[in-house]
Amino acid sequence: MFDNTHAHITTWAIAIILFITAVLLHKAGNKKATKIVQMILRVFYLLIIATGITLFARHSSFDPALYGVKFLFGVIVIAMMEMVLIRLKLDKKTGVFWSILIISFVITFYLGAKLPLNWNWFA
Ligand code: HEM
Repeated sequence: MFDNTHAHITTWAIAIILFITAVLLHKAGNKKATKIVQMILRVFYLLIIATGITLFARHSSFDPALYGVKFLFGVIVIAMMEMVLIRLKLDKKTGVFWSILIISFVITFYLGAKLPLNWNWFA
């Protein structure tokens, strides 16, 4: 957990599945199930952050700036998932938040895969 990224990857992969599930349940009009999935998703936000901070604390001295940017965009991805779900619930427009979500996900993924641990695709 401290020196490999498996736990971190597991937490964000499950979070993405839960997020998509919540959006689909909302579209299907199932309010109760959406709410339950969203509660579980919030626990996964905390797990993503906890595993991310653990990796950050141990490895960021390698490249503090890039790790810092990765941290920031990771948090933005989480914030945007939450914003999209809240605004769907309130029947407000979500377009801008979807855009920020997708762009920040791509940046976070790129930076994660560029940084030295495990996947090291863009070194
Ligand atoms: C949903 C949001 C997030 C996504 C999609 C994501 C994605 C990734 C990916 C693809 C990797 C590379 C895995 C590997 O090389 O095996 C990674 C690693 C990492 N992530 Fe995240 N992450 C997210 C949130 C966060 C947050 C919030 C933090 C900080 C609290 C964080 C900190 C890190 C750190 C420190 C690494 C290790 C980088 C390395 O040395 O290779 N991530 N993440």
